Amino acid sequence: MSHIVDESVENYLQGLIPDRDEVLREMEEQAAKEKIPIVGPLVGRLLWQLCRVAGARRVLELGSAIGYSTIWLARGVGEEGSVIFTDWGEENARTAKGYFERAGLLGRIDVRTGDSLEILDQLDGEFDLIFNDVDKQFYPTVFEKAVPRLRRGGLLVCDNVLWSGKVTEAGADEWTEAIRKYNRLIHETPGVFSTILPLRDGIGITMKEA
Ligand SMILES: C[S@@+](CC[C@H](N)C(=O)[O-])C[C@H]1O[C@@H](n2cnc3c(N)ncnc32)[C@H](O)[C@@H]1O
Repeated sequence: MSHIVDESVENYLQGLIPDRDEVLREMEEQAAKEKIPIVGPLVGRLLWQLCRVAGARRVLELGSAIGYSTIWLARGVGEEGSVIFTDWGEENARTAKGYFERAGLLGRIDVRTGDSLEILDQLDGEFDLIFNDVDKQFYPTVFEKAVPRLRRGGLLVCDNVLWSGKVTEAGADEWTEAIRKYNRLIHETPGVFSTILPLRDGIGITMKEA
């Protein structure tokens, strides 16, 4: 991934944050070694913080891989909260469960395998926060399906919305076009209020107003 944040600034930010515990560290190492695209600690900290600011108790994650971002969300919701992990990889789910157990978080994470969007359709009730990190061609559909499922004041948080800066290029590939459409939707649709933070690969934060 080419960086949208200047490398020296990125290194500066990385140098400011405290070291992670053994489990998160090991996940970061596994992700680097196996090229698993995790959000990393700067965005992980943001997810934790957004859960706290929103007072989130019920969280849904779309596209969880080995559960790195899930751990930040699960810590963010606290002991009374819960997070639904979704990913179509059975092996990812097995690996994630091992990490959740070691982190003492199995009790607040519901691990589900299959298509994240189909799982969303099957779940009942509203969510305080939905974190989206699925394959990029699904982003516009995620917006359409996720916003009605948020409580008023709830957040739809989305990774990779600047996509290494490719969103600035017209006539781009299918994934980039889908992200560009998503970014228009979150800014133009009545009833939601959005901000994009140029952190790491760009994070979209959309609040449901009405
Ligand atoms: C970018 S990775 C997720 C990383 C994770 N959020 C983290 O930061 O630790 C995306 C994951 O979602 C899975 N995925 C993509 N589209 C999906 C879909 N529609 N349903 C289920 N899983 C999906 C991919 O196989 C991959 O494991």
